[in-house]
Amino acid sequence: MEGECPVSVIYLDNAATTYPKPESVYLAMDNFNRYMGGNPGRGSSQQSLQAGSVILEAREALTRLFNIKECLDIAFTTNVTESLNIGLKGLLHPGDHIITTSMEHNAVARPLFALSKQGIEWTQVDCAADGSLDPEDIRRAIKPNTRMICTLHASNLTGTIMPIREIGSIARSAGIIYMLDSAQSAGVLPIDVQADYIDILAFTGHKGLFGPQGTGGIYIDPGIKIKPFKEGGTGSFSEYLEQPGFMPDVLESGTLNTPGIAGLGAGVAFINEQGMDNIYQHEQKLLTQLIDGLQQIKGIKLYGPADPRRQTAVLSFNIEGMECGELSSRLDYEFGIITRSGIHCAPLAHQTVGSFVSGSCRLSPGYFNTSEDIVTTLQAIEKLTRQK
Ligand SMILES: Cc1ncc(COP(=O)(O)O)c(C=O)c1O
Repeated sequence: MEGECPVSVIYLDNAATTYPKPESVYLAMDNFNRYMGGNPGRGSSQQSLQAGSVILEAREALTRLFNIKECLDIAFTTNVTESLNIGLKGLLHPGDHIITTSMEHNAVARPLFALSKQGIEWTQVDCAADGSLDPEDIRRAIKPNTRMICTLHASNLTGTIMPIREIGSIARSAGIIYMLDSAQSAGVLPIDVQADYIDILAFTGHKGLFGPQGTGGIYIDPGIKIKPFKEGGTGSFSEYLEQPGFMPDVLESGTLNTPGIAGLGAGVAFINEQGMDNIYQHEQKLLTQLIDGLQQIKGIKLYGPADPRRQTAVLSFNIEGMECGELSSRLDYEFGIITRSGIHCAPLAHQTVGSFVSGSCRLSPGYFNTSEDIVTTLQAIEKLTRQK
């Protein structure tokens, strides 16, 4: 049955990667591997051309999802981390200034830590203890040498949603590039690169877009010239040693993960069939149930807004007196409930919300979870608070 977990667990770790995937995603990958094969853009055999159309279909589906004008302005990557590295390292030079927030993931913070050793100036704008950002703080941080503003859309720790349109508008009016990390929002929250003034959109395939791991991509505004992250075969202009400078070839050296991209295309088609708003509403219903239930259990500390209108379906909490690693392990081994504990690759965010360095346990229900899953989870957590 669609969305049924093939292994008997309650999977509440969709912020790490969505699981299970829609049936059509498994089928698309199997269909490509078994019946198509072929290397896209490599020669003119029927198989290569067929593989090329699989890539094109996925590119077009993503173009529509994000209201991008031209599908060739999207390059496929292996994940959002690679996309963010391309954006940061391909555009920033010593002397440039970048603004981020104090809620960023290490996918942004670590490359910037490395770049700051090479003369790039980095300002982290502080967010409030619930992870929220006042966009005016971004405006106030702008300097004459600010080249880029980079923020996430929704926090992987607290789900807190950032005011991206306001940030984009501030960036656009100051002539600064705005790069968005959409890891936790693509497929769940609307993203419109034109209306939201997004110059660079970094996305990952394996979370809300329902694709497999090892897929992702980057949209780059056609007005921006990016330095490639790697050079190599693109199947185009092969007589020249110089890397082609146009999108997507400039960033797509080497054979693409075509089976994965076939799955990603099917994931985006699934979102369209179901309706992104229905996916969002379902997840919000489960989130509301979780927040309401946890607020009634004694000894629980919740992080973030604890307000479904201000966050995606990502909720961090701790049980007073219990280490979060133990909490997650016991939920897994005693109750078959999959969560994630620790720092979630986001030390800055933990510092912001006050859970550094102990970390937290994170619950992230997805489209295939049910209300019964949440009831069982709340009962398990309540039992643990009594047993600690
Ligand atoms: C906000 C955010 N950015 C970046 C990433 C990195 O994603 P990936 O491992 O797919 O590159 C994640 C993953 O959890 C995330 O939540």
